[in-house]
Amino acid sequence: MSASLYERLGGSEAITQISGDIVDFHMDNQSIANRFANSDTRKLKKAVSEFFITGTGGPNLYTGKDMRSVHRGMNISAIEFVAVLDDALQALQKNGVGQREQEEVLFILYSMRSEIILV
Ligand code: HEM
Repeated sequence: MSASLYERLGGSEAITQISGDIVDFHMDNQSIANRFANSDTRKLKKAVSEFFITGTGGPNLYTGKDMRSVHRGMNISAIEFVAVLDDALQALQKNGVGQREQEEVLFILYSMRSEIILV
């Protein structure tokens, strides 16, 4: 059987680094930074890492809510959604992730749009 996306991304350590970078890029992204103004960055990075690790086929760490419940009532626009994907792509590239794995992660994230935008 071929290696899971989790393994091909480099496992928990690499994914934790990528997730932290995604959150850092959000804080610097003028399209969405205000959304995270009151966030506890350390906690958010941990939740995003656990979600990412679990969602790519790693250990089952994520204990948070489903994506629709997390983002319900936030009135998130399609433009904001693309801004999050831009930051994810930038973080994947910063960490030297291969083209194929970049595409797989982006596709998985894109597939969640109906659970995030205007829910
Ligand atoms: C596929 C895209 C997205 C994924 C996978 C995602 C994932 C997550 C995760 C895992 C959490 C943490 C939940 C927890 O604490 O257990 C979260 C929280 C949050 N997300 Fe998203 N998200 C996405 C898109 C967006 C977008 C487009 C926005 C708006 C710009 C957004 C705004 C937020 C906010 C404001 C929080 C709460 C932060 C906090 O509690 O400090 N998310 N998201």
